[in-house]
Amino acid sequence: MAKDKLNLEFTASQAETVDAFNRAMDDYMLFSGEPVGRLLETAEVDPDFVMGYCLTGCLRLFGGVGATHPRVSLELRAAKARRSRANPREQAHIDAFETAASGEMSRAGRMWDDILSEYPHDMMAAKCAHEAYFLVGEARNLRKSVMNILPEWDESVPYYSYLLGMGAFGLEEAGDYEEAEKMGRRAVELEPRDGWAVHAVAHTLEMQGRCSENVEWLESTVDDWRGAVWLSGHLWWHLCLPLLEDEQFDRVFDIFDARIANCDEDMVTRLMDGTSLLWRLETLGLDVGDRWEGLADKWQRHADEHALAFTDAHYAMTMAAADKQRSVRRFLQSQHAFVEVDDSTNGQIIERVGLGLCEGMIAYREEDYARAADKIAPIAGEVWRIGGSNAQRDVFRLTLTDALLKAGRYQEAHDILAPLAADTPTPSRKAELETALEGLRQSAA
Ligand SMILES: [Fe+2]
Repeated sequence: MAKDKLNLEFTASQAETVDAFNRAMDDYMLFSGEPVGRLLETAEVDPDFVMGYCLTGCLRLFGGVGATHPRVSLELRAAKARRSRANPREQAHIDAFETAASGEMSRAGRMWDDILSEYPHDMMAAKCAHEAYFLVGEARNLRKSVMNILPEWDESVPYYSYLLGMGAFGLEEAGDYEEAEKMGRRAVELEPRDGWAVHAVAHTLEMQGRCSENVEWLESTVDDWRGAVWLSGHLWWHLCLPLLEDEQFDRVFDIFDARIANCDEDMVTRLMDGTSLLWRLETLGLDVGDRWEGLADKWQRHADEHALAFTDAHYAMTMAAADKQRSVRRFLQSQHAFVEVDDSTNGQIIERVGLGLCEGMIAYREEDYARAADKIAPIAGEVWRIGGSNAQRDVFRLTLTDALLKAGRYQEAHDILAPLAADTPTPSRKAELETALEGLRQSAA
């Protein structure tokens, strides 16, 4: 039986198939190339290549498209049809992929972790678990998944540095910034092209409000991650966050136009970055021109996917901001219909957190700030469940506190902002807190 780069037994009927898989995994680590195209081409000529369909389907899910996306269903069917030819490890991958496609990302993450307990060097399982936990906001599992297998790895194992980058991100999301930064910087030292490790360090700097260091970090590494086509847009987005704090708005607009807006409509993660960035710019009072229009056109086809509450929220934000009233109404109907029939964890999260969040974000755009605050405040403590990173979800906190301030509810805004500004005193948080304090002073007077 063939073996892949990590010495794992691998089902294939042709010798070249394992090379194609190894190269697709290399691309995946670097967020570059065309791993999906490469895998599908290989699968067309090798009827036993079950891992090809597992990986392409998962890559699509992790890219933010829903399980109802025709390509995902097709690839799941193709993987299942080859199940009897696969070895037990590969069969476990098919099961985990199917679970992820059914809206059970957390359970799928645990299934990939189960594969790792027997095959700790299965990087595809480690990456899939990592992505799954990230998509459902499970920071502790994100950290644990990597930390459990790290003792089994060392520099002699291919992809070791990438595992460090993943560990760094898990540590960061779980709040262990010091260890995260150390591990992330070590990963980048070993493999400077590892955009995910660069990203982990950027997150640690962002979360600690180390704005100028973050700009320097991303600018000094840009030549190494510029070619990571599937991640670079998000790293440019990260660069924009400290630039916004520094009021370098022209640079932010340039980055949006040149690096984020010009993406394919299936690059949902980049669409979300675009939405989040324009939203933040407008919250700061800037005119974004007609940029919502182009973004809304690309978002349009994702109206009924409901891949995640996090994706849904960005869809709602975009349509509301672009003033596409019909799309907003249609989306809300579709979302309500989805939660009525979908009883997966994803459906439950959308019902419990997503609906209110979307309605709150839409109300904010309609300048009904009291309603926006009433919708978002009760679920603010649960927003982590919609997935994404702490830094990404901050746009919802920002919207809530801005809505509270604009609705004249200074005390509520103050109670959220005071601990945040004490912990991470960024210019924007300090300014928001000052507005709340001034409002309270005036109310008292
Ligand atoms: Fe990020």
